[in-house]
Amino acid sequence: MSTLRHLVKIVGVAAALGIAATATATAAPAKPSGDVSPMIVGGSPATTQQYPWTVALIYNGTQWCGGTLVAPNKVVTAAHCTAGKAPSTWRIAAGRTDLRTNEGVLAKVTKVWQHPNYRSVTQGDDVAVMTLDQNLPYQTLPLATSADAGLYAAGTMAKTLGWGDTTGSGTYSDTLNQVDVPVTSDQTCTTAYGADYRKAAMVCAGYPDGGKDSCQADSGGPLVASGKLIGVVSWGEGCALAGKPGVYARVSSYVDLIKQQL
Ligand code: ARG
Repeated sequence: MSTLRHLVKIVGVAAALGIAATATATAAPAKPSGDVSPMIVGGSPATTQQYPWTVALIYNGTQWCGGTLVAPNKVVTAAHCTAGKAPSTWRIAAGRTDLRTNEGVLAKVTKVWQHPNYRSVTQGDDVAVMTLDQNLPYQTLPLATSADAGLYAAGTMAKTLGWGDTTGSGTYSDTLNQVDVPVTSDQTCTTAYGADYRKAAMVCAGYPDGGKDSCQADSGGPLVASGKLIGVVSWGEGCALAGKPGVYARVSSYVDLIKQQL
């Protein structure tokens, strides 16, 4: 992808983040020192054959965010991805590991529901549901419910996926990447982010020393544990920094609202 497209994306993400932009999108060298391999951040390549419910959200031709297919024509993503953008500006690439190819399906979006209380990522409610113009021939992912509290216990291993920044300094990927990160306790996340971490609305995942994380343009994508969608990539300070886990929208808190849109 071109430098211009990356610049456009960074500025756009910063604008979407509003008050949190300084911490998330424009934080200078977010790359932690040490051995970070260049994927998602600290991850490895993945395919949409392995993870068929992982989709890329293309805004005006540029990969902008990720999403998860939760019904044949419904994608869960982040409200900060969809805020202020018309449904017609989106295309959803499914079954397309490499965004430079035409593999899979490119769907249109007919409707976007955004959590009505969404204001900014640090205030929570960062969830949205897109309705597609067609049913996709791909496996869907179940949503975590109130019965899945155990999946939010500290130490639960979860996977996040996306086409986003692999370094924390604007190295976007044309191909899908994955990384496994442990869910953290509410206490750990409050230590990291103070009152910006709202435990009813969010869940954090990452290692104490960092090194593995989702990053810019992974937003809206999945955090998966035990075959269920437990989180939606939302925000963080830099990417993969020690003491600064990734913050995800807590799906089990929004499952009823989301199901009303399916
Ligand atoms: N807000 C970012 C986006 O719009 C996602 C940031 C996730 N950050 C993190 N450290 N996990 O793509």
